[in-house]
Amino acid sequence: MNLLHIDSSIQGDASLSRAMSAAVVSRLRALHPDATVTYRDLAEHPLPHMTLPGFATPEAQAVLEEFVAADVVVIGVPMYNFTISSQLKAWLDHIAIAGKTFRYTEQGPVGLAGDKRVILALSRGGFYSEGPAASMEHAETYLRAILGFMGITAPELVLAEGAALGPEQREAALAGGLEAANRIEPTRAETVA
Ligand SMILES: Cc1cc2nc3c(=O)[nH]c(=O)nc-3n(C[C@H](O)[C@H](O)[C@H](O)COP(=O)(O)O)c2cc1C
Repeated sequence: MNLLHIDSSIQGDASLSRAMSAAVVSRLRALHPDATVTYRDLAEHPLPHMTLPGFATPEAQAVLEEFVAADVVVIGVPMYNFTISSQLKAWLDHIAIAGKTFRYTEQGPVGLAGDKRVILALSRGGFYSEGPAASMEHAETYLRAILGFMGITAPELVLAEGAALGPEQREAALAGGLEAANRIEPTRAETVA
């Protein structure tokens, strides 16, 4: 099993999404001792913004091939300014490639990456699951849209919410996220058609 582990938080050791993505990967490693793990830190080593010549560089090809080769992708997702980090967006711009991860047909776009299991370890400062801020959530909703476009219609979510609302809420959010990480199933739940 090829496991690709992506982090994108700028907050280093204080990051909740990093703590949760690491917990998910360590759980999967324990469940699948044969797993090969590739790690990419998008905050430490940012990818360039998208340009047309940039699609053809050896680095861009390597990023795309790394994603295509992955069976399982674990992504640490911080919410910044109501959406994903620009570093994570740059990575998505490298992997959303026609003919590789989706293709256009006369019936519309078809995702080509639907065989991958994707787990999102997402941390956000406020509460968006319900309540007045729900319509301002553009991280999880955006990821569900673009992953779905590539055929990944049921990403799994490990969530910490309310991380910026004080030390107690932060601890509770992290504890909940880590608990969810430790409940990750050995294999992806079959989706019902
Ligand atoms: C630059 C920056 C922007 C942020 N913007 C938001 C935001 O728009 N909404 C929110 O709920 N929390 C926001 N937060 C709080 C983060 O979502 C929270 O710190 C979360 O834990 C980020 O994930 P990380 O700990 O992995 O970096 C922001 C934090 C930073 C540092």
